[in-house]
Amino acid sequence: MRVLVTGACGMLGSEVCRALENSHTVVPTDMVGECERLNIAQAGSVFDLISRVRPQMVIHCAAMTDVDGCEREPDMAYKINAVGSWNLACACASINCPIAGVSTDYVFDGEKEEPYTEFDTPNPLGVYGASKLAGELAISQLCRKHYIVRTSWLFAPHHKNFALSILNAAETRSELKVVSDQVGSPTYAKDLAEFLVSLVGSPLFGTYHFTNSGSCSWFEFAQAILNAAGKTEVNVVPIASEDWPTPTKRPKNSVLRHYKMEPLGQDNARPWQSTLDEFIAAL
Ligand SMILES: NC(=O)c1ccc[n+]([C@@H]2O[C@H](COP(=O)([O-])OP(=O)(O)OC[C@H]3O[C@@H](n4cnc5c(N)ncnc54)[C@H](OP(=O)(O)O)[C@@H]3O)[C@@H](O)[C@H]2O)c1
Repeated sequence: MRVLVTGACGMLGSEVCRALENSHTVVPTDMVGECERLNIAQAGSVFDLISRVRPQMVIHCAAMTDVDGCEREPDMAYKINAVGSWNLACACASINCPIAGVSTDYVFDGEKEEPYTEFDTPNPLGVYGASKLAGELAISQLCRKHYIVRTSWLFAPHHKNFALSILNAAETRSELKVVSDQVGSPTYAKDLAEFLVSLVGSPLFGTYHFTNSGSCSWFEFAQAILNAAGKTEVNVVPIASEDWPTPTKRPKNSVLRHYKMEPLGQDNARPWQSTLDEFIAAL
């Protein structure tokens, strides 16, 4: 199938393009980089490209992902995450093309004691989560053939992410302070990319949660990354969220249960710990 990818030069988008290339025709798009130029915030450009390429599926990875940046620039966040998704949903609907929109654990407020299912009610704490939720709603209301895939704590051996930041910081520091009272599921971008590609051609539209299995705090994640890299001499110190002030309040619990995939027998996500050797080897 001909699959158009937005945000194709980003962390997840580049993995999606790689996962597609053996079995599908990929049309990578982004603002910059070696791909078809597309600013999703411009409706005219989105409609022109979709009607010219006539994709059979769109995997929508483009977003403003700087969580604190969204808090500082809410107009920009809504223009990209909400209006951009709205433009794509309308353009896809106009040619009856399915769209898979990637969304986030930050649509939840983190107050639930157990993992969140796809049927729990979102209540974002900040602009990033709220703008992504507005994007989810645009896609689900405007394009009948849609998948929303919520994920969390993405990491890869490339692009800016927590795992690489920890390894970089460990190059110059012997002690790292890391928040220990926020719990989530680290997710290897390559595994999510493979899940997104598995949706191509599926008639099972709707909202999904996909993460690697298991959960931990950022502190535990940092410890595991350093252990996997053999940097055991670095001391990781647990701290409370209030001792790491940021413009955005983050959910304390953002573990996502894969409720939709359980009855399908398709919940094959590997534990996050078992992705770390592959991550380190790929550096
Ligand atoms: N990273 C995480 O931990 C995480 C967690 C949960 C969900 N998600 C979701 O997963 C998806 C992929 O995230 P990611 O971490 O791969 O993000 P990323 O690396 O920041 O990639 C996003 C890409 O979208 C591009 N983009 C930004 N504005 C655009 C616009 N107006 N038109 C077209 N492209 C635009 C970016 O270009 P520039 O770099 O030039 O801005 C970038 O190449 C996003 O939907 C994100 O919300 C991410």
